[in-house]
Amino acid sequence: MIERRALRIAVLVSGRGSNLQALIDAMQAGELPIEIVVVASNRIAAEALRRAEAAGIATFALDPAGYADRLDYDREFLTRVAGYAPDLVVLAGFMRVIDRTALSPWVGRMINVHPSLLPKYTGLKTHARALAAGDARHGASVHYVTAELDGGPVIAQIDLAIEASDTPESLATRLLSLEHRLLRQCV
Ligand code: GAR
Repeated sequence: MIERRALRIAVLVSGRGSNLQALIDAMQAGELPIEIVVVASNRIAAEALRRAEAAGIATFALDPAGYADRLDYDREFLTRVAGYAPDLVVLAGFMRVIDRTALSPWVGRMINVHPSLLPKYTGLKTHARALAAGDARHGASVHYVTAELDGGPVIAQIDLAIEASDTPESLATRLLSLEHRLLRQCV
C-alpha cells in the first residue's frame, strides 16, 4: 500500500505574513496536503510569527546582528530550518538575499513569491515601477530560488490589468489576493 503523507513545508518570512496566512488557511481547511513544520524569520518583530504561533506552528527568529557576515548568518539560519526536515522551503515575503554558498543545497527545493511579472522588476518597489513604465498589466510570479536575485526559473504567474486610477498602494492591494491564490496553487 502506498502511504500518503503531507508535504513538509518551512515558510521563511520577514513581515506581515499574509501569504503565510493563505497557506495556513488552506492547510487548516484541508485544501492542501501540507504540514507547515516551521515559520522562520530574520525579523523578531515580524507579524507573520504571531500568525504562526496562533496556528500552533513552531517558529524561530534569528537576528542577523551579531553574525560575522552573510554566509555565517545564512548557514546558521538554514541549518536550523533543516532541523525541521522540510520537503519544500517557501519564501513568503522573506526580504533577504541568501548567500549563494548557504543556498546551494536548497536549490530546487526552495520557492519564492515575487510581486512582478518576472523577468520584469526584480528587487523592490515593483508596483511603482510597473506604473512608471506605463505597463498595461502587472502581476506576481512564483519561482525557484537561485543565487541570482529573483532570477530563478518561473513556475507560474498571475496577472491583472492596471487601471488609470491605480496607485502603487491600490495595485499592491489588488495583486495581493492574487498572490495568495498563485502561491497556494504552486505549493
Ligand atoms: C508580498 O507582496 C510578496 O510578494 C513580497 O512581499 C510581500 C509580502 O507580503 N515579496 C517580495 O517582494 C520578495 N522579493 P506578506 O508578508 O503579507 O506575505
